Amino acid sequence: MLERALSLRGRNAQISEEEDEDESKTRKNISVAMRATNHITYKFGVIWPCLFLLFLLLLIFSLIVRSRNLVCVSSYGSPYSRMSVVGMDGLDSDFGTLGVPWCRSKSERAVEWTSKDLLKGLEEFVPIYETRPIKNNMYGMGFDHSFGLWFMARWLKPDLMIESGAFKGHSTWVLRQANPETPILSLTPRHPEKYLKKGPAYVDANCTYFAGKDFVDFGNVNWRSVMKKHGVSDLSRVLIFFDDHQNELKRLKQALKAGFRHLIFEDNYDTGTGDHYSLRQICDQFYIRGGGHSCFKDSDEARIRTKRKKFWEKAVDIDELCGPGEAWWGVKGYMRDDFNHSNKAISFSEHFKNSRFVESVLDVYWELPPVAGPSLTHQTRYDPARASGPIVEDGRFGLFQRLGLSRLETSVFNGYTQMVYVQISEPSS
Ligand SMILES: C[S@@+](CC[C@H](N)C(=O)[O-])C[C@H]1O[C@@H](n2cnc3c(N)ncnc32)[C@H](O)[C@@H]1O
Ligand SMILES: *[C@@H]1O[C@H](CO)[C@@H](O)[C@H](O)[C@H]1NC(C)=O
Ligand SMILES: *[C@@H]1O[C@H](CO)[C@@H](O)[C@H](O)[C@H]1NC(C)=O
Repeated sequence: MLERALSLRGRNAQISEEEDEDESKTRKNISVAMRATNHITYKFGVIWPCLFLLFLLLLIFSLIVRSRNLVCVSSYGSPYSRMSVVGMDGLDSDFGTLGVPWCRSKSERAVEWTSKDLLKGLEEFVPIYETRPIKNNMYGMGFDHSFGLWFMARWLKPDLMIESGAFKGHSTWVLRQANPETPILSLTPRHPEKYLKKGPAYVDANCTYFAGKDFVDFGNVNWRSVMKKHGVSDLSRVLIFFDDHQNELKRLKQALKAGFRHLIFEDNYDTGTGDHYSLRQICDQFYIRGGGHSCFKDSDEARIRTKRKKFWEKAVDIDELCGPGEAWWGVKGYMRDDFNHSNKAISFSEHFKNSRFVESVLDVYWELPPVAGPSLTHQTRYDPARASGPIVEDGRFGLFQRLGLSRLETSVFNGYTQMVYVQISEPSS
């Protein structure tokens, strides 16, 4: 495994050499052309060869210009324009097999929807998103996750939608757009109507709020009685959306205990980032692609991380990744909870046990891909090398525009944190 990681990284180290090779190829072509004209001059006199040479030079020139254009689909003189020249699939795979961590599921089941469905969904969702009541949702969801939540809620068609963490109510509004008739339960300490006094907020007419003095934490709700009150007998028909910045292991256990099956976590932070222990952090282990990080400052990983940190604000360098005793799991070996108001150092074996537990209850693990590549969205925060491939790939500006995505402000694309949908059930043993 490690060997493979190293050899992959070796391949990426050759990117710059390949570039040089390309140039020398052009040079080679030119000299072949020169030799050919020399040959022709010798045979056919002067005027025709001159015209032929001119024609040939024009042809070569246009070929060079065209191939340049093909490579620099998106050079706006911004940080990522250099990346496009190098080739997204170059720096993209910089991490080699360290790449993108994910959770394995026990049944290896996949989601029903395809990338085609996601594209169709995007086309539908953009005009809806443009009518959102809260235009500036700082500290809340941006476009990518709003789309993900809307798409999944609409696809799954639950009988009841529960959200934990509503802030001004943007996510409540998204859930409502997905399913206009479905009841919603919203658990959030501060009632969204409080925000209405100061500016835009969304309060839903068909939502039961556990907010203000009625607030109860998800883990303390008597779900049996609440479900009965709402006429829900089949818990597999309920969708839960967590955006409350709580330890996701804690939430997973609470949801499992109550008998829920379908969960979406908004902030599925990468290792070394975020204010709560996330599924992605938990599953970042050496035995799958990703994990097994090296805290050695003179390592390939350290060099890659330093390089990537220059391009992506949220990329994590070795100093940020590693805590005392080379603890790289969670955030520097800490399990954060409740907006980082609480954090606890955990040992690697504890962390490893957590990953085994999580994977023993997962039937499906699906991370929402970013909606579009960074050269299109101009996002500069998350590192694309640590995310799955975008729905609209870099270079597909026509598609990006057709979907209406170019109409949106770039700031709405800055909030991607690997939103994840999971289906869970009790361990099978
Ligand atoms: C990031 S915001 C949610 C953003 C929102 N979902 C949106 O779409 O914009 C986090 C919210 O969680 C709330 N919160 C804090 N502790 C919570 C808890 N224990 N349970 C539920 N919500 C909590 C905060 O008050 C805040 O409104
Ligand atoms: C709430 O939902 C019910 C049942 O779907 C519907 O009849 C009613 O019009 C809704 N109320 C509002 C204010 O949207
Ligand atoms: C999280 O909490 C720890 C311990 O209180 C603190 O050292 C750290 O700076 C905090 N990080 C963030 C991002 O708030």
